[in-house]
Amino acid sequence: MKKSLEKLLNKPLPVDPFMPQRAVITDIEELAPDHKKFSFAFCDESVNDSWNHIPGQFVMLTVPGAGEIPISICSSPTRKGTVELTVRKVGRKTEVLHRLKPGDYVAIRGPYGNGFPVGIMEGHNVLIIAGGLGIAPLRSLIWYILDRRHRFKEVYILYGTRSYEYVLYKEELKRLRERNDLKCLYTLDKFETEEDRRWADRKGLLTELIPMVELEPSETFVAVCGPPVAYRFIGKELLKHGYPESQIFVSLERKMECGIGKCGHCQIGYKFACIDGPVFPLWDTKNLPEMI
Ligand SMILES: Cc1cc2nc3c(=O)[nH]c(=O)nc-3n(C[C@H](O)[C@H](O)[C@H](O)COP(=O)(O)OP(=O)(O)OC[C@H]3O[C@@H](n4cnc5c(N)ncnc54)[C@H](O)[C@@H]3O)c2cc1C
Ligand code: FES
Repeated sequence: MKKSLEKLLNKPLPVDPFMPQRAVITDIEELAPDHKKFSFAFCDESVNDSWNHIPGQFVMLTVPGAGEIPISICSSPTRKGTVELTVRKVGRKTEVLHRLKPGDYVAIRGPYGNGFPVGIMEGHNVLIIAGGLGIAPLRSLIWYILDRRHRFKEVYILYGTRSYEYVLYKEELKRLRERNDLKCLYTLDKFETEEDRRWADRKGLLTELIPMVELEPSETFVAVCGPPVAYRFIGKELLKHGYPESQIFVSLERKMECGIGKCGHCQIGYKFACIDGPVFPLWDTKNLPEMI
């Protein structure tokens, strides 16, 4: 039915976000201890063609024999033909996923959530602040912006993690630092090895990079993703430097079961992280204190 409709209309129909789509693992990259990036292709080619998402959105990934997990999309919608997810091994389902090999099958439904407000970010500076695995959804935003570079003004990326060993997308981030159309500042918690020292612009917390940013705050949108404990401090530092509260967006993780606003697992006050989020303006996190 779907195939004949597509033939009649001569274009792929949009992907049904409620329907799990079978997908095959095409590539697995070991990024850091317990962190792998998985590339997927949908078995139905028309789904590959019509797949679209907003940076910051997530999918529900079925790991065969284990269950479903929410995972942020780390690839950019500007790069078609593959969906990429970076997954840290933390428990049973992610452990089973980490044992899969290229050629194995999974199911993916989505994309879900709101994502970053890329439309209103256009025409402005963008400051991207990533801590640890928080770089995953922000990688989607980074490539979205870089593939449409002319639509945005100045771009800064601040990235902090434990040590060089835990830096994700090492080669990509090295190449980004060499570009002259954006500025990258990287920090590490530890400065123990020669590699740590070569990699980082400084040792210390992500918040210590914020004063090094040379942007006009009123002209800047900020996208933040990292460990929730850091949000309070990052938010405070951004406000201290004059970034408007309404232009700071943070991505939150909550326990999720359905991803579509039905089960209530992700409820925060009167908001559901799966449909009202996972990206929230900083204003919301202040008015719903249980958010962070
Ligand atoms: C919107 C969203 C996007 C996410 N994106 C990513 C991603 O890009 N990469 C990634 O590796 N993980 C991501 N996660 C977290 C991921 O869903 C969990 O790590 C996964 O479900 C754990 O499953 P498990 O069975 O392996 O571990 P479990 O046995 O379920 O849990 C292991 C440990 O992780 C904690 N945990 C589980 N789920 C969450 C959660 N949602 N938030 C905080 N702590 C949790 C548990 O409390 C427990 O301590 C995301 C979660 C959400 C809600
Ligand atoms: S995950 Fe079920 S309501 Fe949000």
